[in-house]
Amino acid sequence: MNKFKYKKSIILGGSKGIGRSVTKALKKTSKKIISLSSKDLDLSNSYSVKQFLKTHNNTDILFLNSGGPPNLKFEEITNDIWIRYFKQLFLSYCEILRKLKINKGGYIFYISSSIIKEPEENLIISSSLRIGFSSVLKSLSKKYAKNNVSIINIAPGPFKTQRVKELIKNISEYEKKLPLKKLGNPDEIGKFVKFIIDNKIRYITGSTVYFDGGISKSL
Ligand SMILES: NC(=O)c1ccc[n+]([C@@H]2O[C@H](COP(=O)([O-])OP(=O)(O)OC[C@H]3O[C@@H](n4cnc5c(N)ncnc54)[C@H](OP(=O)(O)O)[C@@H]3O)[C@@H](O)[C@H]2O)c1
Repeated sequence: MNKFKYKKSIILGGSKGIGRSVTKALKKTSKKIISLSSKDLDLSNSYSVKQFLKTHNNTDILFLNSGGPPNLKFEEITNDIWIRYFKQLFLSYCEILRKLKINKGGYIFYISSSIIKEPEENLIISSSLRIGFSSVLKSLSKKYAKNNVSIINIAPGPFKTQRVKELIKNISEYEKKLPLKKLGNPDEIGKFVKFIIDNKIRYITGSTVYFDGGISKSL
């Protein structure tokens, strides 16, 4: 008997942080796991995306994830910076979805950010591009549903990864101000993804799940 529930998973940005936790969590669920770093697939580089799509034309699970953009003031963001992150956090995902078939019964997960609900002046590249791509996924969720493919947008708050260490200087002081007094553990996102696909949870497709440790002030 086949002990794996799924044949193939592709995890973009799978070498560190949240992506690595998801890679770890799916070991017993997916027979083949393609977990990629920026060296395997650079989402800011159109050629790299094309090469990736020559090798892969279908998957059961797709985890859309990448490195986050720098925290720059609006005035500091040049057109070149905008274009680079537009490719990395928006256009490449669109091209991948256009060309990569998600097999019947599959799942697409997307790592956005809790700031899509409450954008601020800092992290403006991140919030604007992720709001845009969240809208793309929402629009596509009904079409994918016809093929029994579910889409879940995961919007994390502060999680303990390399990314956060780069953005926050004094982590222990920052943690004191958080409702749960600590950063999130990326393994919780791995466990969440595994739970959804192992149990074939279907009815939250097209939804955004805020994984923010209670920091959001909105409903
Ligand atoms: N951690 C948080 O608190 C938090 C909160 C909200 C949103 N997010 C967002 O969630 C995503 C993952 O965060 P994380 O904390 O896990 O980040 P991380 O620890 O920095 O890991 C980023 C992953 O993305 C890969 N990557 C970087 N640049 C890439 C590129 N140009 N093309 C393809 N892959 C690339 C990295 O590969 P390499 O190993 O090659 O570097 C790595 O596997 C980011 O977009 C981040 O902004 C994170």
